[in-house]
Amino acid sequence: MSKFVEVKTALLAQPKVWLVTGVAGFIGSNLLEQLLKLGQTVVGLDNFSTGHRHNLAMVQASVGADAWSRFTLIEGDIRDLATCEQAVHGVNYVLHQAALGSVPRSLENPIRTHESNINGFLNMLVAARDANVERFVYAASSSTYGDHPGLPKVEDRIGKPLSPYAVTKYVNELYADVFGRCYGMPTIGLRYFNVFGPRQDPDGAYAAVIPKWFGSLLRNQDIFINGDGETSRDFCFIDNVVQMNLLAATTDNAEAINQVYNVAVGDRTTLNQLYGWIREQVANIHPEKAGVEPIYRDFRAGDVRHSQADVSKANSLLGYAPTHTIRQGLAVAAAYYLERMHER
Ligand SMILES: NC(=O)c1ccc[n+]([C@@H]2O[C@H](COP(=O)([O-])OP(=O)(O)OC[C@H]3O[C@@H](n4cnc5c(N)ncnc54)[C@H](O)[C@@H]3O)[C@@H](O)[C@H]2O)c1
Repeated sequence: MSKFVEVKTALLAQPKVWLVTGVAGFIGSNLLEQLLKLGQTVVGLDNFSTGHRHNLAMVQASVGADAWSRFTLIEGDIRDLATCEQAVHGVNYVLHQAALGSVPRSLENPIRTHESNINGFLNMLVAARDANVERFVYAASSSTYGDHPGLPKVEDRIGKPLSPYAVTKYVNELYADVFGRCYGMPTIGLRYFNVFGPRQDPDGAYAAVIPKWFGSLLRNQDIFINGDGETSRDFCFIDNVVQMNLLAATTDNAEAINQVYNVAVGDRTTLNQLYGWIREQVANIHPEKAGVEPIYRDFRAGDVRHSQADVSKANSLLGYAPTHTIRQGLAVAAAYYLERMHER
């Protein structure tokens, strides 16, 4: 039996209380859906700055009324300590996802990013420490590797951050580590590598590349590739991320706690390959899209050139085994965007 199946079985038998911050966002709403399906009780916190009520409505429809009754939403902001204190009350595990994502957003407004990603993070840490939560799992980021040239990326070899966003995510790791050392607080940081899947927002100036390209192809908008298209990433399907959160929250391996982990597949895909696969998925349903070519433009500031994770630490300490390759994940994501874009 895989470690993940073991963990799910144990949770079903002995449900816990979870706090998911950023619950109306892409990753948060997927965590919520899995937890409710596993019979857990979930408190969600979100200020709806980049998250959406329709994400929560989709979870509600997917899990049904019974499971939905185990969910409580707090509409509030992690920049407010009292809200964080209210949210962690009586909680076993925290999955802290709330933050302002996007490198370009942080370049345009570093103060706003800092306020949610560092001040808000520290509020959550303090509140969780004071509530004696059993585990504080938080969304870190592959951007922490910065200018380190090594490939694949190994957790203890990082470079200098290349953007304000990357600074905030690295500061999260520093604070979590210090809270472990100074207060004995059990934390685990998850360095997500370009996550994608259902409910990731295709709209807005800071949309991630996969939902943006699905959206643009389906709406007959221009597709832009920043740079020559040979920039590469370790794109990670959302189910792998959900798995890591549950493994991290529940592990009783003492060695595994107060650590950070890469969350990815361990593969590398260029933007050119990615575009080809997305176009193929869309063209399966809309054959007229098969010939749509992308427009190449300048490289984007703050982006790293190549990214690929070594996931052996997560595998050996937490029993992580990704269930979806990028292509398997893209098929699921395609079905989601094709269905939704038809609704508009
Ligand atoms: N998606 C990725 O590829 C990726 C990669 C690395 C790290 N991450 C991190 O994962 C986490 C979740 O990202 P996502 O892709 O789901 O983004 P998202 O924007 O869909 O979700 C973030 C959620 O946090 C909420 N939020 C933001 N600021 C808040 C605040 N001050 N108070 C309360 N709620 C607030 C937003 O409204 C939103 O619902 C973030 O911490 C992000 O930095 C994501």
